[in-house]
Amino acid sequence: MNILILGGGGREHGLAWAVKQNPKCDRLIVAPGNAGIAAIAECADIDIMDGASVVTFAEENAVDFVIIGPEAPLAAGVADALRNAGLLCFGPSQAAARLEVSKAFTKEICDACAAPTAAWARFTEAAPAKDYIRARGAPIVVKADGLAAGKGVIVAMDEATALAAIDEMFAGAFGAAGAEVVIEEFMAGEEASFFVLCDGETVLPIGTAQDHKRVGEGDTGPNTGGMGAYSPAPVLTDAIAQQALDQIIRPTVAELSRRGTPYQGVLYAGLMIEDGRARLVEYNVRFGDPETQVLMMRLGAQALDLMLACARGDLAGHQVHWADDHALTVVMAANGYPEGYDKGSEISGLEGLPEDSFHMTFHAGTTARKGKILAAGGRVLNITARGATLQEAQTRAYAMVDEIDWPEGFCRRDIGWRAL
Ligand code: AMP
Ligand code: GLY
Repeated sequence: MNILILGGGGREHGLAWAVKQNPKCDRLIVAPGNAGIAAIAECADIDIMDGASVVTFAEENAVDFVIIGPEAPLAAGVADALRNAGLLCFGPSQAAARLEVSKAFTKEICDACAAPTAAWARFTEAAPAKDYIRARGAPIVVKADGLAAGKGVIVAMDEATALAAIDEMFAGAFGAAGAEVVIEEFMAGEEASFFVLCDGETVLPIGTAQDHKRVGEGDTGPNTGGMGAYSPAPVLTDAIAQQALDQIIRPTVAELSRRGTPYQGVLYAGLMIEDGRARLVEYNVRFGDPETQVLMMRLGAQALDLMLACARGDLAGHQVHWADDHALTVVMAANGYPEGYDKGSEISGLEGLPEDSFHMTFHAGTTARKGKILAAGGRVLNITARGATLQEAQTRAYAMVDEIDWPEGFCRRDIGWRAL
């Protein structure tokens, strides 16, 4: 079959790599793709935010299946446009994507199905929001309701920081995303990510992961999109995973069905684990980046069968076949990230790196020019390895990192430390 993947980051390279290994895949097109993806798929230049353009492209190219990577096209209703045109598509509708698009919506759903999460309140004006913060005290968490590229959350350890965050949000620091603010109880504990596929009814867990959000070693410094990840997440034990499924994920999926907006796609639950119990931090309606790279390394070609079953609504009866293994990915980023950084520096040493079921270099922000690979973004490469133990995966990944010659880039040297 002919498959189109929307997106152009490390996540989409991970998805493309897994899909390509499945003999069902004939032609693979990724839009827009990147330099790494171009080595295994055709890259197409279409406006992935515009449902009509994607439909036209898919029809003209006899595409049988579309996989939507990032949240933005999902939030824009591209999955709806494809399904309305009779095309098979992996990813939730615009209505179901509200689980990521609106934090207040997710909290309402949690309340409606009694899913454990932080206590919360919503505000559209500063004065009552500040009264609430003063009454509750710090630590407390202030969130812009809408999509803010991961920057709309302020975990305030003191009251003054929380009050300042309110002023900032209502002054428009996050644009329309901050017109409504959610204030939450601070949850202590260890975070982990739980990924499930859902076809509207059936829920199938496909793995757990932990990422390192801070730029600096020891998990210090500013937040980023993620500096590395590993799977599985030891903190998410089988018992806690079962509790999260029973109390959080299945009730959420049932509540969305009950409302007439069933969830189809991958559901990524960010969980806070404390005292042997998980509470929901947030939902994302797409695969994580860089968590997908470690998940795909472990799932391989079956990922396509599972995503197809999801899109066709026949996930029941499908199983994930696990190797008892571990995967770890190290993000290489441009110097300066997550603040300002330069583009265009040359990366050498990639040609000699092993590429097999234990080693893979996924590209995020790269372009190819005159046979050279150039940095074209903040997060640039995801050096990924699998092993019988997490330690082995980590050793393999850093051995690859050490072969790369890129003075204008950096990585953390401690990915996986919490689990090791
Ligand atoms: P979110 O965008 O909702 O995932 O928030 C970003 C990050 O803020 C999360 O990954 C957590 O590390 C942190 N966070 C969000 N909500 C809470 C909370 N209620 N308590 C503690 N930390 C939180
Ligand atoms: N790595 C975090 C995310 O994809 O949201």
